[in-house]
Amino acid sequence: MADIATATRTVPFLTRLTRHRVPVHALEAAGAEAAGRVVRLNMGPFRPYLVTHPDHVEQVLTGNQANYLREGMFWDPLAPLLGEGILSDGENWAESRRILQPLFTARHVNAMAENMARIMDELIDTTIVPGQPFDVAKGMSAIVHPVIVRLFFGAKISVEDINRLVPAYDVAVTAKALRVVLPFVPEQVPMPGDRAFRRAIKAIDEVVYPRIAEARGQEQEGDDVVSRLVRARTQDGGADGDRLIRDDLVAMHGASTETSTTALSWVWPVLQAHPEIAAKVYDEVDRVVGDDPVGIDHLPRMPYLKMFVSELMRLYPSGWILPRTAIATDVIGGVTVEAGSTVILSPYLTHRLAEFWDRPTTFDPERFAPGGDARRHRYAYWPFAAGPHVCLGQHLFAMEAPLLIAGILRRYRPHVHLDQPPVPRLAASLRPPRGLTMTLEARR
Ligand code: HEM
Repeated sequence: MADIATATRTVPFLTRLTRHRVPVHALEAAGAEAAGRVVRLNMGPFRPYLVTHPDHVEQVLTGNQANYLREGMFWDPLAPLLGEGILSDGENWAESRRILQPLFTARHVNAMAENMARIMDELIDTTIVPGQPFDVAKGMSAIVHPVIVRLFFGAKISVEDINRLVPAYDVAVTAKALRVVLPFVPEQVPMPGDRAFRRAIKAIDEVVYPRIAEARGQEQEGDDVVSRLVRARTQDGGADGDRLIRDDLVAMHGASTETSTTALSWVWPVLQAHPEIAAKVYDEVDRVVGDDPVGIDHLPRMPYLKMFVSELMRLYPSGWILPRTAIATDVIGGVTVEAGSTVILSPYLTHRLAEFWDRPTTFDPERFAPGGDARRHRYAYWPFAAGPHVCLGQHLFAMEAPLLIAGILRRYRPHVHLDQPPVPRLAASLRPPRGLTMTLEARR
């Protein structure tokens, strides 16, 4: 009799990828065929397990979390960017998490929020030219990125350095996109994007290391992330200590800007595709904010905008893939997962499971009306992951998203230049299609 592991269903991925040439369609087809069961994805020489059912997600992210490490062929190509801190695993990760977690609690983020609101308002003012088409992702990045840089580095970074960091990060997180969908190609085999990646890392390090050296040389009273990291790591001196601070800063910076920028890029095509939902969002912003700059006291009074953002993160979760390596053999949903195997979780697929979501592909913010959570499996919705690695930035994003959306809508109405709803692009995050443009028209 075949044992459970050999009886595990294998679903095609690589052939679908080459046939359709639209990776997200290959992913959706694999998810539909799995329908919540644990399956193996046939990626040619490599067959990771795909885990989407909420019970199974809970086992990997929480119940037996210590068995599933963030390492392996998906993570290795990004190691020079992410380093050995908060986005690694094991002891180094635990130490970084202990230092960083207190900086991003809801209370602490609330304290930063007024500052964020002010910087955001200035940036919306200075970067948007009404009536002029712009690239949606670049436009969002031009606002999100400097906001994050200011929160992380305080006044310790010049505008020139911000302008060097922004494109370097963009290259660093996108250059390895091909390796994310073809993770079995060895690092020694050159692929498009490798050289650009190395150049981007160099540019990032040339900005970040001098900021650390400067911060170490001063009395650090500041509340920005560099000052706090330097204070927390006074006993980790020399090049090794600098490296630890660099790794956390760079990993946090990458994790916060790429995810927020792509999430906020989806706002505009989604509003355009759903005029009746857009009308409710516009109405709420008009009633609550009016002509004033958006402040944090407006946020609790815009519940529909909050529901809209939650639904946006259901259908377009920036962190669409979470790869793990199993340390010991485990059984998930009756399937034996051997030690050393790669396990792939995807909120994109869990959030579209028909067993847990009524009309799963319909965009409907009402799902997140008060009381909705209680009717849902706790692990049916996890755009920010869960368990010990749960996103450190979720409170920050909960503040950043309505500030940006309402900040734009109080002055402008969007028009996206696209006839049909866009197909997501599987990159380091779930990006809208390349070249998506929009125009913001002044309201009055
Ligand atoms: C739309 C916005 C965001 C989304 C969808 C998102 C999603 C996620 C997900 C899915 C993870 C788990 C990764 C894994 O375990 O493999 C994660 C971790 C993380 N996120 Fe976010 N994130 C967002 C914004 C932010 C922001 C603004 C920050 C900045 C503070 C941030 C910092 C982090 C960090 C440091 C981790 C690693 C936590 C750990 O492993 O202990 N994220 N995020």
